[in-house]
Amino acid sequence: MNLLLMGLPGAGKGTQAERIVNDFKVVHISTGDMFREAMAEKTEIGMKAKSFMDNGELVPDEVTSAIVKERLAKEDVKKSGYMLDGFPRTIAQAESLDEISSDLNQPIDGVIYIDVPSEKLVERLSGRFICKNCGATYHKIFNQPKVEGTCDICGGHEFYQRDDDKPETVKNRLDVNIKMNTPLIDFYEKKNLLHKINGDKDIEEVYEDVKKVIKGL
Ligand code: AP5
Ligand code: MG
Repeated sequence: MNLLLMGLPGAGKGTQAERIVNDFKVVHISTGDMFREAMAEKTEIGMKAKSFMDNGELVPDEVTSAIVKERLAKEDVKKSGYMLDGFPRTIAQAESLDEISSDLNQPIDGVIYIDVPSEKLVERLSGRFICKNCGATYHKIFNQPKVEGTCDICGGHEFYQRDDDKPETVKNRLDVNIKMNTPLIDFYEKKNLLHKINGDKDIEEVYEDVKKVIKGL
């Protein structure tokens, strides 16, 4: 099965992806995570991406599509299918993905769009914190670890806030993504692939709806 997980910053793509991977064993590919890893390792791609990410801008299409193309060609994707999180974000990226997926004979089975009113997203982003050890995502109000200060998944005790969740970057990130959103939704609606889900509910309630869509694909 091959899926796209779309939604504005903070809509819950990563949160739902953790659950989908657990149940459906697809390969989770988040372009944001790939860029953050590349930045931490100071690779050439990481260096290219840094200034865009720090300002809440999109990394140029040719850089982003190239890393996705390379990643989708790997053996694990051939075996288990992919779930792209945060890609595509522009029509040019969507068109490259059509090409890449057709070359690999791995067509998109469905696009899940997690819909959350934009005014709710600042609060989600500003309260997010992440386990330093395993990357699990929490929220200081909506999604706290079961034991305060301890990661539910790995038992780690160190957490961090993403640089681009700081207030000065969040606003631009949202503006940039909102602008790109409608044409992309139309693109997949026309292909009859789009499944819009109300993401303005409890995490587990949203996941119930996500599961229904996936089981119906
Ligand atoms: P990326 O890392 O993809 O960031 P994003 O799209 O801004 O999305 P987020 O990861 O911030 O949000 P999410 O939807 O995963 O929400 P989460 O589940 O964490 O990209 C970062 C940057 O990389 C981009 O700005 C760009 O520069 C670059 N980039 C990446 N892809 C690119 C591309 N294709 N082209 C060009 N550039 C690209 O949840 C958020 C918070 O809310 C958490 O605290 C969570 O606990 C909480 N939460 C989740 N669900 C709920 C719920 N239902 N109710 C209450 N709280 C909830
Ligand atoms: Mg994410």
